[in-house]
Amino acid sequence: MFDEIDIFENDIREQYPEVLDILLRDHSTQRNIFWATDNYQDLGKDYDFASPILSELITGERGYVIMPRVKKDKELQQTRVRDMAEVFTPSWICNAQNNLIDNVWFGRENVFNIEITNDDGSHIWHANKEKITFPEGKTWKHYVRDTRLEMTCGEAPYITSRYDTTTGEYIPIENRIGLLDRKLRVISENVDTSGEWLKAAQIAYQNTYAFEWQGDSLLLAREAMFFAFIEHFLKKFEKYPALKSIKYIAYIISWNVWQMDGMKGVVPNSCSDEITQLFFGDKEKTPCYGCQKDIITKHNGIYCLVKDWGNKDPETGKKGHKIRFIDLMKYI
Ligand SMILES: C[S@@+](CC[C@H](N)C(=O)[O-])C[C@H]1O[C@@H](n2cnc3c(N)ncnc32)[C@H](O)[C@@H]1O
Repeated sequence: MFDEIDIFENDIREQYPEVLDILLRDHSTQRNIFWATDNYQDLGKDYDFASPILSELITGERGYVIMPRVKKDKELQQTRVRDMAEVFTPSWICNAQNNLIDNVWFGRENVFNIEITNDDGSHIWHANKEKITFPEGKTWKHYVRDTRLEMTCGEAPYITSRYDTTTGEYIPIENRIGLLDRKLRVISENVDTSGEWLKAAQIAYQNTYAFEWQGDSLLLAREAMFFAFIEHFLKKFEKYPALKSIKYIAYIISWNVWQMDGMKGVVPNSCSDEITQLFFGDKEKTPCYGCQKDIITKHNGIYCLVKDWGNKDPETGKKGHKIRFIDLMKYI
């Protein structure tokens, strides 16, 4: 199952009780993530654009419904390019761009791998097999804590490269190039007990964010990050993590990888017309002011929430301060 690029929802449901439901949760609406695409409507009313993705709709005999883009039929791929600009980035480009971030962070090049262009023009990379060393004043803990975000993440190829989203080729752990893969590698190289590893992995996940419009891709992104956790743990300790730890990672992912219209900062299509009551029972409809004027702070839809895990919520006193994503814009 671990070298399969298509993660089967039936397997998740059977092997990790409750995890699929956690991975389908949306914390801005307190409901499940929704399809946000018409691609599945032929399967019935429950698969309409606005319907929530429920575990029973994608498991059992419907276990085939969610599949990575590379396994979708060509016609559907074209529709998705046209409707949502869905073109995925090859792993070698994700790697080159992620390397640029690390070049700056480490103050040197070729930290995790060396990029190579073959004679035929194809691109590969060779993973650096040595333990990663850190520049003066920085440690592996700083690296794990450093925050990363993949905007409009699709299946999140910049975060974890379990497979090349353009070819479907499975990529073994030691060759992965994702932002989260790099954090998990560094953790495995620096701790030896499973307790320490799990604590550090939670911090890595808490500092890795992504958002996406389409519900199916969003779930695939969440599942890929979830499986990356199990795969890295298995590789390091040759056993599975406990269900409690697995569920907590799924919970972090359900917060940090969220469904949003990135142009508006709200849940996709959640803005609505304002209705004004006029004299004599007449009503006037005005479109959402933010949509009309294209002002990101003035939408009447549901603004998406994210969690700042390093701070306490001032209302509940619990770990993790909930903030609207758009309120972070002032820091960008
Ligand atoms: C060009 S693909 C890139 C996906 C991925 N980051 C990659 O590099 O392979 C663009 C993605 O943006 C999503 N998207 C399009 N418009 C969006 C919007 N307004 N807000 C959030 N996501 C959007 C699409 O669903 C699609 O998955």
